[in-house]
Order: sequence, then C-alpha cells, then structure tokens
Amino acid sequence: MTVLSPDEIRDVNTRYHDVAAAGYDAKWGIDFGEVGQRQVVSKVAKVFTPAVLSQGFGRALEIGAGTGYFSLNLKQAGVIDELVCTDISPGMVEVLNANAGRLGLGAVSATRADAESLPFADASFDLVLGHAVLHHLPDLHRSFSEFHRVLRPGGRILFAGEPSRVGDRIAQVPKRTAGVLGPIWRRAVGAPPPPPQSDPDPDHVHDHSLEAFVDIHAFMPQDLSRMARRAGFSAVTVRGEELLANWFGWFNRVLETHADPAQVPMLWRQYAFHGYLALQRVDRVALEPRLPPWLFYNLLLSAQRPDA
Ligand SMILES: C[S@@+](CC[C@H](N)C(=O)[O-])C[C@H]1O[C@@H](n2cnc3c(N)ncnc32)[C@H](O)[C@@H]1O
Repeated sequence: MTVLSPDEIRDVNTRYHDVAAAGYDAKWGIDFGEVGQRQVVSKVAKVFTPAVLSQGFGRALEIGAGTGYFSLNLKQAGVIDELVCTDISPGMVEVLNANAGRLGLGAVSATRADAESLPFADASFDLVLGHAVLHHLPDLHRSFSEFHRVLRPGGRILFAGEPSRVGDRIAQVPKRTAGVLGPIWRRAVGAPPPPPQSDPDPDHVHDHSLEAFVDIHAFMPQDLSRMARRAGFSAVTVRGEELLANWFGWFNRVLETHADPAQVPMLWRQYAFHGYLALQRVDRVALEPRLPPWLFYNLLLSAQRPDA
C-alpha cells in the first residue's frame, strides 16, 4: 500500500476535491432549502443545549466547508450571525461563493486555507465548526491547536459527520448486499444499465484514482475526545449519529449504481429520499439516546475553550 507524506495528502485532497466540486451538491443530494436547514439544525441541537442554541453564535469559522452544506444552512437558519468559510480546495471555495450568492448570503467570506494553519487572528471566533472534514487532515494535533487558538475563551467547536471506525465496518454489510442484489433491482425497476464511462480528460481520470487516498482516518469516539482535550478544550462530548438511516441510504445508493441515473424511476427516488428522512427521525428519537456512540456511522464532537 502506498504511504503518502502529509504534504502529499494535502495535495491529493486539493486535487480530488477540485474535480469533485462542480458535481458535489448533485452527487450528495445537498439541499439549501427547508430540508437542508432542518437537517443541520438538528445536528447542532444534538450537542448544544437549547439555551446555547437560542443565543446563536456571533462569528463562526467553518473548516473544510466544501460547497457550504453545513454553515450556509446554519446561517440561513439564523444560528450563525457572521460566517467565514475555509477549504483547502479552490474549486470548492468557488462553488461555495456561487451558492452563497445564489442564496442571497452575500456577506459570507470564503477563503482557501489549510486547517493546520489558519490565516486568522487569535481569539477571533465564537464557533469553529466542520462537517466530514477531520478524517482528511494529516496532522490532527496541529489542526486542533489552530481551532483552539482562533477561538475566543468560552467559544465552542462542533464537528459532525466524522466516520466511526466500527460504524463504517458495519455499513459494509448493506453495501455488499446491495452490490449482489443490484442487477435484480435494476430489472425490477425497469431501468437500463449505466452508460459506459467516457471521460476524455486525462486529469479527471487520474483524480478519480485519488479517492482511496483522501480518507485517511476513521475514529473511535475516544480518539476524538482525546485530541480535543490534548489541545486544551473542556466540556468535551462525542455522540453517535445515524444507524438505520445510514444502512438504508448506502443500500439504496449502491443499488442505484447499477442503473442509468437518468432512468431511475421518480417513484423509487421519492421512496429512497423519504425513507431516509423517516429513518433519520427513528435514529434520532429512539436509537441515538440509547446506544453507544461507536455503533453509529457518524460521530459528532463538541467542546469548549475554557474561559480565561
Ligand atoms: C467530504 S468534503 C466535506 C465538505 C463539506 N464540509 C460538506 O459536508 O459537504 C471534505 C472537505 O474538506 C476539505 N479539506 C480536505 N483537506 C483539508 C485541509 N487540510 N484543510 C482544509 N480543508 C480540507 C476538502 O477540500 C473538502 O471540501
């Protein structure tokens, strides 16, 4: 197996996400309307008390913001007042700026920056947040030190959507099952197979092959809490999120790879979308408060920089 240096990992992440940026929102079904806002607010409500949430956050910094799923939705929902977004990929920053403009959020500032060296003054944010980003960072200790440095005393961090090591292994079961059942499912819904891939751009083909090198960590809950404490944070909590919703989502996503995306029936898409949302509610209400965090697919970390 090829082992990459930290600089190579950052470079691969930049190139991979630059290529992914234009089709990212469509690929992951990212929504900036009511559904998307409700999803992100429900994540924040899992870790912050109603009192903290109702106060909102004055100035927030998102790390690895991608196209803006997490913080543009939180800004629209009124949880964040002033928003600064960063990402190592210029392609992602460009799409985020376009999304912010389209949503009428002109005041959002988006900058290219590496999580390990943030171009911001000490103690200049009330909240540092991220979604599905920590698992890409080669030096987590440096990154957490940076999050701590740019936060004001009493400020908070929130990282969601981080892969859980055990949850990720369990998710292989629905993925593999759907891989076997895919051809039967395709015939059942009457869709043709996907058209052959034709991508004449050699850089693009090359960047697809980088996929295996961008996801460099999966976490146990205690890994995340240890890193936060080591950087000086207190009030550290790690929660697990999404179990049934995730199995259902991966199962359907892998089934769908067997058909021409343009020909998957709308009825099936509606079933997959609404089924996913319904199971997210079951997870949130019935399973997440009762089962241990390591069992879930995603981990959510929150912590506070102690008051001076
Ligand atoms: C899986 S995407 C998530 C994007 C977005 N947060 C979301 O949830 O849709 C990970 C993002 O992290 C960014 N990233 C990877 N390495 C980074 C680094 N060292 N510093 C800052 N951002 C990084 C990538 O460019 C990419 O946009």
